[in-house]
Amino acid sequence: MNNTNKVALITGANKGLGLETARQLSKLGIHCIVSARDEQKLNSVRNQFEKEKIDADYFKLDVTKDKDIGDLKKFIADKYGKLDILINNAGVSLEKAPSYQVNTAKDVSIATLKEVYETNFFGCVLLTQTLLPLLEKSNAARIVNLSSELGSISLQADCNSNVYDLKKFAYNSSKTLLNQFTVHLAQYLKDSKMKINSVSPGWVKTDMGSQYAPLEVADGAKIIVTAATLPDDGPNGQFFTHGMKQILW
Ligand SMILES: NC(=O)c1ccc[n+]([C@@H]2O[C@H](COP(=O)([O-])OP(=O)(O)OC[C@H]3O[C@@H](n4cnc5c(N)ncnc54)[C@H](OP(=O)(O)O)[C@@H]3O)[C@@H](O)[C@H]2O)c1
Repeated sequence: MNNTNKVALITGANKGLGLETARQLSKLGIHCIVSARDEQKLNSVRNQFEKEKIDADYFKLDVTKDKDIGDLKKFIADKYGKLDILINNAGVSLEKAPSYQVNTAKDVSIATLKEVYETNFFGCVLLTQTLLPLLEKSNAARIVNLSSELGSISLQADCNSNVYDLKKFAYNSSKTLLNQFTVHLAQYLKDSKMKINSVSPGWVKTDMGSQYAPLEVADGAKIIVTAATLPDDGPNGQFFTHGMKQILW
């Protein structure tokens, strides 16, 4: 499908990887619905994108709020009647990077687990399920779940992996759950033209990734854009990073 006919929704797009993904998709001619949970932050993006001559829609969306999700579905259905790309980018980490052993399996509270899962897992699941009928109206929709190597059980269990000592149980397990969602929905989609994948952007210099991260935001976002614009023979139900390098689940 021609990019100019495509509509993409990006969650948590007021800063970091979400904002940059919206910028890069827009530059490919894809019409973006930029969403953020805070109206003021959303307006700042609007002002910024207007200066950059990027035409987009702006929608207030807290992925933990059922009403926001319902309102967004109506907005997309009324205005476009379909959705071509869903980027499940919104995410929280209650541990500030670089932190290695915070909210660990030994001591994390159930309240903390629920708080992180609320955004990183439940919000993503409900939003995706709600928008599925609109994605199914697209010729070949793409869903991208923002995961992390920290969510890989294989790497977490491997004492030789470089993430072995990064045991942030709340965040890491939320991404493991998200990966399961990718695999499960991919099985449902296997006979359709739609695709869902988990991607890891690497360790990126954002508020979450911190100033110590090696990757610039513009570089980190590239794999998200790649997964959002996969050709028909691209992967479905996979977990990959830059260069389409597979990550063990
Ligand atoms: N940076 C990295 O190194 C890295 C590595 C692997 C994976 N990731 C993943 O990449 C995604 C983006 O991360 P980032 O590094 O760009 O982090 P970031 O700069 O902290 O941005 C996170 C975004 O998510 C939004 N958000 C949080 N809770 C939300 C909610 N309930 N509803 C809607 N939006 C919400 C934030 O909004 P507010 O501004 O209102 O808080 C913000 O826009 C996350 O899923 C993260 O787990 C990042």
